[in-house]
Amino acid sequence: MSEMKSYRVWDAPTRWFHWINFLCVIALIAIGIVILNAKALGVTNEGKVLLKVMHVWFGYVLAINLVWRMIWAFVGNRHARWGAILPGGESYWRSVKDYVVRLCSGRPPQYIGHNPLARVSITLLFFLLLMQAVSGLVLAGTDIFYPPLGSWIAGWVAAPGVDPVSLQPYSPQMYDEAAWQEMRAFRKPFITAHYYGFYALVVMIVIHIVGAVMAELKEGGNVISAMFTGRKTLSEKPADE
Ligand code: HEM
Repeated sequence: MSEMKSYRVWDAPTRWFHWINFLCVIALIAIGIVILNAKALGVTNEGKVLLKVMHVWFGYVLAINLVWRMIWAFVGNRHARWGAILPGGESYWRSVKDYVVRLCSGRPPQYIGHNPLARVSITLLFFLLLMQAVSGLVLAGTDIFYPPLGSWIAGWVAAPGVDPVSLQPYSPQMYDEAAWQEMRAFRKPFITAHYYGFYALVVMIVIHIVGAVMAELKEGGNVISAMFTGRKTLSEKPADE
């Protein structure tokens, strides 16, 4: 029988990022689905404002956590860094080929950090989260006038004689109609990106979970529990030692 060896992999900041992000994404998806179906569910304007406020607060936590993780990818341990996440480089493509060939034969190589296929899915997840965060932060200003752009947008759409600070959501009598329409045109690409980003993210989350379960079953090494304990136990010499 091969000897099991334990390796330190995910450092504490990476694990904290992962689980804070997990909770925020669940909350954002759940509230996002209700916002999407608000009409069919008969949600009142006050209800919509409350949903958007809650969504935006979870969104701020997600965005701060994400920025922090992107900085940590420059300073964290070897497995937390961009070099271990972003796909690319000559040896990377060789490792993809090797991984796929051995996966097809039923015994993929073991990795301490992300395997080469996981790197593609993690990169896409980062990209989609960033896209949701940027588009969401813009949208936060367009309906409920929340930061970072809320006061600028309120100043843009307030009707003459209305103090932008006093502007209320869903109160068309307080808005300048022409400015409001301009602002809606400005917001359109952001809501479109946020909408399709949501579906793309849901697909990627499913791929991420299936990938983690497959890696756990095929590679072994407690891939899933490593995100709690920070350690993997492997039976072979890891390909990324
Ligand atoms: C995992 C990340 C996120 C997911 C899956 C998500 C999902 C959604 C969905 C499905 C909607 C409904 C879209 C529609 O009505 O067409 C929505 C709306 C919204 N999201 Fe997000 N969101 C995320 C992150 C964020 C972040 C980081 C913020 C900002 C801090 C944010 C702010 C908003 C706002 C303001 C709306 C309402 C847009 C409107 O006025 O109709 N979202 N989100």
